Parts: sequence; C-alpha cells; structure tokens
Amino acid sequence: MTRPPVALRAFEGAVAVITGGASGIGKALAEALAERGCEVIVADLQTGLAEEAVGALRARGARATAAHLDVTDFSEVSRLVQETVGRCGRLDYMFNNAGIGILGEVRDHTIADWYRIIDHGPDRGAAGWPRRRKTTCSPAAASRSRP
Ligand SMILES: NC(=O)c1ccc[n+]([C@@H]2O[C@H](COP(=O)([O-])OP(=O)(O)OC[C@H]3O[C@@H](n4cnc5c(N)ncnc54)[C@H](O)[C@@H]3O)[C@@H](O)[C@H]2O)c1
Repeated sequence: MTRPPVALRAFEGAVAVITGGASGIGKALAEALAERGCEVIVADLQTGLAEEAVGALRARGARATAAHLDVTDFSEVSRLVQETVGRCGRLDYMFNNAGIGILGEVRDHTIADWYRIIDHGPDRGAAGWPRRRKTTCSPAAASRSRP
C-alpha cells in the first residue's frame, strides 16, 4: 500500500471497529481506513461475509480482523470493545454503521418494524464505547464502560 499524504495520516497506526463492515458503506469504509494504515475490525452479523472482506484486505497487506457482532445485543458490543482493547492495546475509532432499512411507506410500518429499526440505531453501538473525550482508550478505561 502507498504511504498517504500527511493530511490523511490520522488513521495511520490507529485501530478502528466498523459495525456492519462486511458490506456496503461499512465495507468501503474498512477499505478506505485500511488503505490509510488503520487496523480494522470488521464486525458484522454476517460472519462469513466479514471474513471474506478481511481476507481481501489482508491480501492487500492490511491489518484486519473479522468479528461476529449483533449490535442489538449490548453484551456483544461491550465484549468486542474489551477484546479489541485487550488485543490491540487501544481503540481509536468506532464506526456505528450497522443498520437496517425496511422498504415501503412508513405509514404501512408496524410498531414492531419501527422498534426493529430503532434497535439498530447508533446508540446501540455507542453503548459499548467507553465514555472518554480522548479517542484512544486504555484497557482500564474500557473496563469502566457502562453496562
Ligand atoms: N445505502 C443507503 O442509501 C443508506 C441510506 C440511509 C442510511 N443508511 C444506513 O447506512 C448504514 C449502511 O448502509 P448500507 O447501504 O451499507 O447497508 P448494507 O445492508 O449494505 O450493510 C449493512 C451491514 O450491516 C450488517 N448488519 C445488519 N444488522 C446488523 C446487526 N444487528 N449487527 C451487526 N451488523 C448488522 C449487515 O449484515 C450488513 O453487512 C446502515 O445503517 C443504513 O441504515 C444507508
């Protein structure tokens, strides 16, 4: 991979979790971050697809790991954060990209549809993120994250 210009080096050596990173926007983001020297954790409900995406990134020399994640389950988000900080010693970015859409007119949605969409909202991923102003977190900070 080519060395990026100075302005793009914010991601060099950083560690990022991308939820829903196995396809679409999340996958493109993982590729763009890896291209800039970031270690990426591609976390997705579709583990096979995440592993495929990671295989392609590694083939290009990137540091990448696939992880199974269901963002609607707080304990899974929390575990992934703890594991990442434990393994990498840091977690600089967490992109809460995973989400679902339900096609059709909103007026035709059921309340269950509505809550299903909300359940995938960014607060789900954010709930596992240690509350700190600085971007890099330590294992100790991660262990202080709210339940
Ligand atoms: N593409 C658009 O036009 C558009 C518009 C508005 C908002 N968005 C939002 O942007 C995000 C990405 O969109 P996209 O088009 O790349 O979608 P996509 O369907 O291609 O990718 C979403 C990824 O999230 C994963 N995912 C779904 N539920 C999950 C869960 N519970 N836990 C973990 N992973 C889960 C899927 O397996 C998939 O790999 C979504 O949150 C989507 O709602 C997209």
